[in-house]
Amino acid sequence: MTATILVGAQWGDEGKGRVADWLASESDVVARFAGGDNAGHTVYVGDRVYKLHLIPSGILHEHVTCVLGNGMVVNPVNLVREIEELERSGVRVSPERLVISTRAHVITPAHIALDMASEKARGADAIGTTLRGIGPAYLDKTGRQGLRAGDMADVESFADALCERIEKANATLVEHGLEPLSPREAAENYIEAARRLSPFLRDTSMYLNARLREGARVLCEGAQGTMLDIDHGDYPFVTSSSPTSGGALTGLGFGPRYVERVVGVAKCFSTRVGAGPMPTELEGPLADRLRGTGENFWDEFGTTTGRPRRCGWLDAVMLRYAAQVNGFTEMVITKLDVLSGFDELKIAVAYELDGERLENPPEMLAALRRVRPLYETLPGWQEAIGGVRRWADLPRAAQAYLERIETLVGVPVTTVSVGPERDQLVFRS
Ligand code: IMP
Repeated sequence: MTATILVGAQWGDEGKGRVADWLASESDVVARFAGGDNAGHTVYVGDRVYKLHLIPSGILHEHVTCVLGNGMVVNPVNLVREIEELERSGVRVSPERLVISTRAHVITPAHIALDMASEKARGADAIGTTLRGIGPAYLDKTGRQGLRAGDMADVESFADALCERIEKANATLVEHGLEPLSPREAAENYIEAARRLSPFLRDTSMYLNARLREGARVLCEGAQGTMLDIDHGDYPFVTSSSPTSGGALTGLGFGPRYVERVVGVAKCFSTRVGAGPMPTELEGPLADRLRGTGENFWDEFGTTTGRPRRCGWLDAVMLRYAAQVNGFTEMVITKLDVLSGFDELKIAVAYELDGERLENPPEMLAALRRVRPLYETLPGWQEAIGGVRRWADLPRAAQAYLERIETLVGVPVTTVSVGPERDQLVFRS
């Protein structure tokens, strides 16, 4: 059993990138299994900040092979840009280090334009998507009319198929009052990208199974988070893929017998970007304080879109649910340093709906929108903890906060991050 699945326990932006970076140092292969460049993983190494959207954080470790799995939707132009940016900063990205599933789906310019059209049509009910074409790409996949990455190997027919898709989308765009795309122009960059990416294409399921059979350690790096899952999140304010642990298996094509650990990553408070219910959302000075000013890259502003994130107290009801959906074997709690200086901290331990106490989130949106969080208040701590490296050196109140999370969720907290740098991790021995 050599696979570890790493998933977000909240609405994305839990700090998975830095946790993946740490786990990648102990892995041979790091594989993304869902989503596309809607994700934004920030990793801080030395004095450099890497913002990765498609390529797993494992790329920053020389010995690691990175995989973009079949469950992903890939924008080839943005992928080439990301490869070039990494190479410019001295990170080698060769076909030996990065393999792209022939079965992954391609995000076309039509998908991006249709994402915008769909958001526009929803008006006040817009999802607040990242406008990266994610939903329309998965719609074409499940509608069995998508283009797969493997189609890029034959550049001529790929270009024809792309133009055909764009022409078809133009009718919808015009209907929504948007400018139609010029198929040839839009396809040009894609053709160039297809040529560049062809050597990276491979049957990644075969590759991963072969590596797993020989005992390689595979890290499945989740993007987004449990509450954005198409099935288990707060539908319809979700993304269009399965970022939960089950999605790792379908999105990579190997069986559950290899899975040893399912690591849930949660921030020590809640954030959400985009629309949708968020029971513990705060407004005013408390929210501003959790969000930060935006001056630091770790402040709560979207890596992909730059949007300020909605902030609130930790929601243990959601975490308990996420632990169940994913089968967490352990949890990593991130950004604990941000909570230094609060007199008291609140955790939602249950919800109330129409006078009834709920231990789990209601599955329908209308009810979820009406729940009221029931809080427990815990003492805060004043000390800065960025320099702490041993669990025993954390302030007693911080330890109590973590212990309370683990009791409420029913999963051990094994690791805590206390700052953005690679070594700012506290392991519980
Ligand atoms: P989409 O994935 O662009 O379709 O966006 C659907 C919803 O998921 C929106 O609320 C986005 O803000 C949210 N979302 C998508 N990717 C991420 C992510 O990586 N972090 C946080 N939220 C995300």
